Amino acid sequence: RIIVTAGPTREPFDPVRFITNYSSGKMGYALAVMAARRGAEVVLISGPSSLPVPPGMDFISVGSALEMRDAVMSCLAAATVIVKAAAVADYRPAVRAENKLKKKQGPLVLPLERNPDIIAEIGAVKGDRILVGFAMESENLLANAKAKLFAKNMDLIVANDLHQTGAGFQCDTNIIKILDPRGGIEEVPLMDKLDIAGRILDRVKVLIDERKC
Ligand code: CTP
Repeated sequence: RIIVTAGPTREPFDPVRFITNYSSGKMGYALAVMAARRGAEVVLISGPSSLPVPPGMDFISVGSALEMRDAVMSCLAAATVIVKAAAVADYRPAVRAENKLKKKQGPLVLPLERNPDIIAEIGAVKGDRILVGFAMESENLLANAKAKLFAKNMDLIVANDLHQTGAGFQCDTNIIKILDPRGGIEEVPLMDKLDIAGRILDRVKVLIDERKC
């Protein structure tokens, strides 16, 4: 049973406005589809995305990072694998106004507070579960990805470079590097996100087989 998180989160500050990011959900949805094709029971937990809900899996729609955390934690006990492809907002507006904010003279200052780091929370309690995270970087790709892999107790991290053509949030393709805690770095060249998903799940399968021994 695999949990896949996908898409952005949406952090509202009044009834009509929110902070978010450019994530399309494509990489996470591709992972969910490929995992279902390979016989996994899939729970796809998705932030707002324009993609159609893929058939053959449980689907949980969430808005904010706090909602995503609640959804993930409620499914965690039954899961063997967790893949966190979602682009979770690190901060949310500290106050959510009940009514639409009216404009005033001068700038608006919006205080933000930290969201929970969902994958770090999973990493702290995961036990035998296999935890796969992502790192989207615009500089120092490998060093930053490696730091996140260890800091959040992941089994694999998928690193992608925001500046590479054919990689990133809105594309149908990706170019990735898969890092593991033993220092291994697998470079996966430009390919469709569904094929990229297959390559990530190949690595997950190896870990599952190792744990069975
Ligand atoms: N993540 C998460 N909860 C957060 C932030 C990130 O679960 N509040 C997960 C993402 O789903 C991803 C991994 O952590 O699998 C790395 O996310 P990323 O945004 O690249 O890194 P951060 O840890 O947020 O660090 P920074 O923003 O400083 O690069």
